[in-house]
Amino acid sequence: MEPHGLRAVGSHTSLSEMDDLDLSRALDRPRLKIERKRSFDERSMSELSRHDSPRGRSVLDTPLSSARNSFEPHPMMAEAWEALRRSMVFFRGLPVGTLAAVDNTTDEVLNYDQVFVRDFVPSALAFLMNGESDIVKQFLLKTLQLQDSEKRVDCFNLGKGVMPASFKVSHDPIRETDHLVADFGETAIGRVAPVDSGFWWIILLRAYTKSTGDLTLSETPECQKGMKLILSLCLAEGFDTFPTLLCADGCSMIDRRMGVYGYPIEIQALFYMALRCALSMLKPDGDGREVIEKITKRLHALSFHMRNYFWLDYQQLNDIYRFKTEEYSHTAVNKFNVMPDSIPEWVFEFMPLRGGYFVGNVGPAHMDFRWFALGNCVSILSSLATPDQSMAIMDLLEHRWAELVGEMPLKICYPCLEGREWRIITGCDPKNTRWSYHNGGSWPVLLWQLTAACIKTGRPQIARRAVDLIESRLHRDCWPEYYDGKLGRYVGKQARKYQTWSIAGYLVAKMLLEDPSHIGMISLDEDKLMKPVIKRSASWPQL
Ligand code: GLC
Repeated sequence: MEPHGLRAVGSHTSLSEMDDLDLSRALDRPRLKIERKRSFDERSMSELSRHDSPRGRSVLDTPLSSARNSFEPHPMMAEAWEALRRSMVFFRGLPVGTLAAVDNTTDEVLNYDQVFVRDFVPSALAFLMNGESDIVKQFLLKTLQLQDSEKRVDCFNLGKGVMPASFKVSHDPIRETDHLVADFGETAIGRVAPVDSGFWWIILLRAYTKSTGDLTLSETPECQKGMKLILSLCLAEGFDTFPTLLCADGCSMIDRRMGVYGYPIEIQALFYMALRCALSMLKPDGDGREVIEKITKRLHALSFHMRNYFWLDYQQLNDIYRFKTEEYSHTAVNKFNVMPDSIPEWVFEFMPLRGGYFVGNVGPAHMDFRWFALGNCVSILSSLATPDQSMAIMDLLEHRWAELVGEMPLKICYPCLEGREWRIITGCDPKNTRWSYHNGGSWPVLLWQLTAACIKTGRPQIARRAVDLIESRLHRDCWPEYYDGKLGRYVGKQARKYQTWSIAGYLVAKMLLEDPSHIGMISLDEDKLMKPVIKRSASWPQL
C-alpha cells in the first residue's frame, strides 16, 4: 500500500480548486443553469436508455407527471417554505436554527422542540440555496460555542471535540435574556453521544463557505480549532487495526439500538466526507500542518478499506459465498473471518447482476449485509465510492426500486429485522418493529440525499421519479417524519407531523433539480491522485 497516494490539499485556496463547480461559475447563475440542465439531462437520458433492467422496466417508465417540466414551481413549495420559516428558532433576536418538528397535532413533544444538528443540515442547505446564509452562520457559531461546554454523563466526561446532538433556547423571563441548553447525549435515550454531529458541522461549514464565498468564517481561529477538536477525537492512535471509526449503537440518525454498533456505513461515509471537507479548509499553520498530514494518511487508508471490504456486488457476494474460514497470517483471503453461513438468504435474491452497494458494517467475523440509504448516498457525494461504484449504487436503486423506494422515498435500511432477530438486535424495541421507523421505515428527508446523488451521477430522472412520489402524498399527510410498511404506504405509527427535515429535504431536492449547480455545496469531486482501486475480483486474493 502506498502511504502518500493523496494530493496534499492544504489551504483554503484549494476549496474552489478541488471541486467541479467553483464559486465564480456558481455566481454566473442564469447561463450556468441552462448549461447544466442540458448536460445533466442529456447524460441521464443516454445513460438510462442503455440501462434497462432485466425485468424490462427502466426509469423512463416513470409516471406521466414526471414528464412535465419539473422546473415549474410546485404549489407544495410555497407551503414548505412557510412551514420551514415557522420552525425557525431565534436567540437574542438572531435566527440560529430550526426546530425538529412543529407538530401542533400532539401534546407529546419529547425532544422534537429542539434544534438537532443533523436535522438542521437540510434546512441550512435550503436557506443557502435561497441566498439566506445568516441563519447558517449563526448556527455554526452557536454550536461551536456549545462545543466548549462541559459534557458529562454521571461522573464521566466526554471528549472536548464532541458536538451536541441538539440544543434549545431557553428564555429567562426575569433577566429577560436567552441562553442555550445543549444535549451531548447525556439526556438522550440510551445515553449515546452523536458521532455524526461533528461531521455534519464540518460538512456544513464547507457548504456555507462554498455557497457564500465567505472564507472569513472558516478561517477564524475558533472554526479552525473547532474542526481540529472534532477530528482529534477520530485521528488519535490507539488499539485500532482498521482505519474505520469504532462506534456505539445509535450514535447517528439511527439513534436507537438497531445493530449499528461497530463500523456502521453511515458514520464511515460521513467521516470520510468530513475529513475531505476539513482538508479543504484547514490552514497549514501551527499544528494545522500535522493535522493535515494525519487526515491525508487516514483518507488514503479509509478509502482503500471501504472500497475493498465494504463493497458488495454480485461478484463479491459469490466470492464471500465461497470463502474459506480460519485462515491465519498475511496470506488470508477472508481477512475478517466472515462465515459464509452468516450470509442472509435475502441477499442472494436482492443482488442484481449489475449494481452494488456498501454493506452496513464490516468487523471481525461480522458483515452486516443490510443496505443503508444515507451511507450509500454520502459515499457518492463524498466520492468515497469510485465513479464505477457510484453508478453501481444507482443501478441497484433502479433495479430494486420497489424494495428501496416503493411508494415513499426512501427506506432508511433494507430489509427490516423481524422475529427473533428483532428481539435480539433491537432489544425488543417497540418503536422499531418491522418495517417501521429505523427498522426499514421510509424517511422523506432522505429525498435530498438521493436527489443529490442522482445529480452527481448524472441521473436526475431517478430523482424526479422520487419527487413525484413525495409530491403525491407528503403535504396531504402533513409532512410526516417517516412512513411504515414494506412499501412505505402508511404514515408512521409514532411519526411527528410537520417534521422540519421532511419539509426542508423536499425543498433541497426541488432546488437541486432546478439548479444542479447547487450540488457543489454538498459534493466533492473524485480525488484523481488517489490510487485507483484494484478491480475487486483481481484484488481480493492478493490483499
Ligand atoms: C429521531 C431520529 C433522529 C432525529 C431526531 C429529531 O430521534 O431518529 O435521527 O435527529 O428524531 O428529528
